[in-house]
Amino acid sequence: MSYTVTLLPGDGIGPEVSDATVKVVEATGVPIRWESHLAGLDAVNAGKGTLPDETLESIRRNRVALKGPITTPVGKGFRSVNVGLRQALDLYVSLRPVRTLPGLESKVRHEDVDVVVFRENTEGLYAGREHEVVPGVVTGLKIMTREACHRIAKYAFEYARWRGRRKVTVVHKASIMKLSDGLFLEEAKKVAADYPFIQMEDMTIDAVAMQLALDPTQFDVLLMENLYGDIISDLCAGLVGGLGVVPGANIGAKCAVFEAVHGSAPDIAGQNKANPMALIFSACLMLRHIGEVVAAARIERGIEAVLKAGEVRTGDLGGTASTTEITNAIIANMPTAEEVIL
Ligand code: NAI
Repeated sequence: MSYTVTLLPGDGIGPEVSDATVKVVEATGVPIRWESHLAGLDAVNAGKGTLPDETLESIRRNRVALKGPITTPVGKGFRSVNVGLRQALDLYVSLRPVRTLPGLESKVRHEDVDVVVFRENTEGLYAGREHEVVPGVVTGLKIMTREACHRIAKYAFEYARWRGRRKVTVVHKASIMKLSDGLFLEEAKKVAADYPFIQMEDMTIDAVAMQLALDPTQFDVLLMENLYGDIISDLCAGLVGGLGVVPGANIGAKCAVFEAVHGSAPDIAGQNKANPMALIFSACLMLRHIGEVVAAARIERGIEAVLKAGEVRTGDLGGTASTTEITNAIIANMPTAEEVIL
């Protein structure tokens, strides 16, 4: 059985961390044929627009993609390719598991963090509906539909059920945004009623931010709309060592795109300094998604062993190792399939 996976290397540090990830996945022996496609600036430079049809068609055909970060111009220029991709493929779930990793104790304030952030991925303020009413006055529409609120809540509760999670915290600001966040909360409560064995609580976004800083171990599954999810996932990444170690998945009914939480990191791009662990962990989510659980576990153990030993680390984790050195260390520390199963 072999797989075909669409690969979007992205830009900035994207190609470096994508190469590293492909190398680690290939070291497991899982037979994957990578179909590499352009998106973002590279696609524009090749005269194909930001999100070429052939890229979308490849993901639709293969149903699984691994994606490096893509730069979005700030304040002007083209619309975010990341947001465009999620909307074009209706990848309504953003799933970001954040957990304390061995060996990083000295870098973090809290141990035993283990939260999964679910972010609605297609609407809210990211619907991109902004208007200049008159010069000097702009509006941005926060679009929330009952259907989208319902399906992300359903996914989060189903995930909690299957993974043995005990609590879902619904994050909102319904006291101020009574209609939009009110609808999100209302649908989450409706869905929660079907899962009486999972505790549901709701909390305002500001309270969640403070509680995460005080004691993140009180949280299990966090469920929220698009913008809050963007911010809270970075905050959670900061709790466990930073953006270099947190993976992510964008999942829809028909296909899934796996990518790290971090961006294209232009400050370190092209220098062989980026930490590839976040994208490699994302590839582990991908391997689990396609049923290759042993390969995923082997890679995760390999990363954990490297972190625990603490000798080979990239700059974001306080070391001086290069992307290449980390990649080789992970491969060298990967247990065999038998060692993982036993
Ligand atoms: P960023 O995540 O690229 O960088 C923030 C800081 O974290 C930088 O100091 C960077 O060096 C560091 N960092 C990030 N990933 C790292 C890694 N793997 N190893 C070591 N250090 C790492 O966020 P920023 O600067 O806000 O965004 C840069 C560009 O990326 C923007 O154009 C933004 O739109 C885009 N972006 C793309 C995303 C995607 O493709 N999914 C997600 C977030 C941002």
